[in-house]
Amino acid sequence: MIGFADLDAGNKEDNMSMNWGMANRLARIIKPEDGRAVMLAVDHGYFLGPTSGLEEPRKTIEPLMPYADSIMLTRGVLRTSVDPKSDKPVVLRVSGGTSILKELSNEDITVSIDDCIRLNVSAMALSIFVGSEFEKETLVSLTKLVDEGEKFGIPVLAVTAVGKDMARDVRYLGLACRIAAELGAHIVKTYYCDDFEQLIESCPIPVIIAGGKKTPEMEALELAHHAVTHGAVGVDMGRNIFQSDCPVGMIQAVRAIVHENVSAKEAYKIYESSKGAKQKRAAG
Ligand code: 5RP
Repeated sequence: MIGFADLDAGNKEDNMSMNWGMANRLARIIKPEDGRAVMLAVDHGYFLGPTSGLEEPRKTIEPLMPYADSIMLTRGVLRTSVDPKSDKPVVLRVSGGTSILKELSNEDITVSIDDCIRLNVSAMALSIFVGSEFEKETLVSLTKLVDEGEKFGIPVLAVTAVGKDMARDVRYLGLACRIAAELGAHIVKTYYCDDFEQLIESCPIPVIIAGGKKTPEMEALELAHHAVTHGAVGVDMGRNIFQSDCPVGMIQAVRAIVHENVSAKEAYKIYESSKGAKQKRAAG
């Protein structure tokens, strides 16, 4: 019997029907102790190039690693910028093939399952573009990836990418999340929105939220707090951490919200105190 009963994040996963490797990898991402997850997203360069704050990935990633449960990134950044002796679970971005200069939804699978296994990844992440020009192709890619993942016990994280003309509302995001779940994704990443509980209710797999564009620290912490109190299992946050004036303070604050259920105000104090300490160190 598989002993990851708490992994199911509200009975959303039937771990008994999962193979051991799949359940074990999922438990590395969504912590069985509380069914929550802090994922650090640093995969932005796969279509944005040298994103602000990620110009030198190793410098950004290293100080943040101790506070993340897992790290989401591309294989290029993994190989060049993460110590292979690290035991941090890797969520590998395996979709891409586009840039901000062209139609973003025209993605394909860009990493073979063999390389995912070689890189010892804990999950594979792929974007789906529901409502966009290449909706069908990205959804079919998701099903192909799930088939590969099922063979080798590697879970799939579907990222509900939002097309230029799509509203980030519960109708649209709920549709995208439900389709991801129906097609076999094991976790889905989306955006927080009004009536988020409806999205959670209609999505039978664990949901994590992206942080989105950089906002003031308090706003980002409120977003994380709303998301987990309304049913998300955690966050996969990037820009609101690494573009902050105190990235370590921000990830510590987000972690406290996700794993210690602190309020956004309490979390903000954690961020401020870390920022104060950083300023003191800089002043010598
Ligand atoms: C890009 C992604 C990013 O990982 C995602 O957007 C999370 O980062 P952020 O918190 O900066 O939005 O999947 O498609």
